Amino acid sequence: MSEQLKDFLTIGDFDVEGKTVLFRADLNSAVIDGEVQMKERIEENAKTIMELSEKKAKVVILAHQGRAGRDDFLPLEQHAQLLRNFVVDLKYVEDIIGPTAREAIKNLDAGEVLLLDNVRMLAEEILKKSSEAHAKSIFVKKLAPLADIYINDAFSVVHRSHASVVGFPMVLDAGIGRLMESELSALERAVHHIKRPCVYVLGGVKPEEVFDVIDFALESGKVDYILTTGGIGNLFMYANGMIPMKVDNDLLESVSRAKRIQRRAGTKIKYPWDLAIELDGKREEIPVDQVKPNQPIYDIGQKTIEKYSEIIKNAKTVIMKGPVGFYEKEAFAKGTRDILKAISNSKAFSLIGGGHTSAAISTLGIDRSKMSQAHVSLAGGAFLRYLLGKPLPGIGVLRKK
Ligand code: 3PG
Repeated sequence: MSEQLKDFLTIGDFDVEGKTVLFRADLNSAVIDGEVQMKERIEENAKTIMELSEKKAKVVILAHQGRAGRDDFLPLEQHAQLLRNFVVDLKYVEDIIGPTAREAIKNLDAGEVLLLDNVRMLAEEILKKSSEAHAKSIFVKKLAPLADIYINDAFSVVHRSHASVVGFPMVLDAGIGRLMESELSALERAVHHIKRPCVYVLGGVKPEEVFDVIDFALESGKVDYILTTGGIGNLFMYANGMIPMKVDNDLLESVSRAKRIQRRAGTKIKYPWDLAIELDGKREEIPVDQVKPNQPIYDIGQKTIEKYSEIIKNAKTVIMKGPVGFYEKEAFAKGTRDILKAISNSKAFSLIGGGHTSAAISTLGIDRSKMSQAHVSLAGGAFLRYLLGKPLPGIGVLRKK
């Protein structure tokens, strides 16, 4: 599906001064030992929030954290604290639709910002319903009358038909935030206005996602190279008899699919020439044909980095999804770091996405602002669905009416 910015109203199209703006942000972040990690999502959403506040809007933030039943399902108190690094006077209430939240919204002055609690604490939020049905929820009925405008800046949740994503734009004037603008324009450019040669760099450990991306790219006829890395690269090499590997029964179907994709992709698909294994706790690089059964393969080797970097250098479009190696271990971060460097140095327009890939960029301390020709998407599931041309319910409802 192609999303063009001209189909949407942006913040610039509204006179927000003195208006109450319901602002859907995605502040969902990794949680380690109960502590919310400061992530780009918080920083990037804060930029749009500050713009609205400077334009004297009364900003009410709707956001979620985690999923019910999981350890990362938390109230948004810590997010409020993290947001205060950017929006100093941000107010926070432990309420979403109750009297405390509604009073706090009514009492906002122009330029003030209020964060409500985790919207997923409302059972209604995640009910599997259409946007029309969500628009009739108690959640929407309680808050929409207190607001003038709805802005969604959370591209990373637009694949969810949740009340805070699809319900409010049915009943309020709605538009997209700055982060959503940059996500949509980068995806539009990389996926629908592809300049050739077009290179996909695919890694990570989720085979089915990667297979879907490859199938879709091959179908489009607009991909020139598919560079395999990470766990998925190993699976492809195993499927093609290049390396031995212990494969559980639940991966057998993936092995068959990898073989089918190889036949379809022909020489467009590339595999590593050498790999980094862990030997006595250290990194050791060996040619692919020397890998022995049960050796832990954690990264691509130097020769592969150079060959892949050359292909990336000559590309006009690069789409990267999934880390190249086990980057969390410093000894095996080289592949991911060097391939990102190659993308950064290339003149190609690059789109980098998938939750783990953007996490790798921050873990490795790579400065995203220096990747001038690259867009790093902050989305996981929504990014994937966009790449696969699947509908995104939260986007459809934001189109100009
Ligand atoms: C994400 O982290 O991708 C978004 O916040 C959506 O979260 P979800 O997968 O729990 O819906």
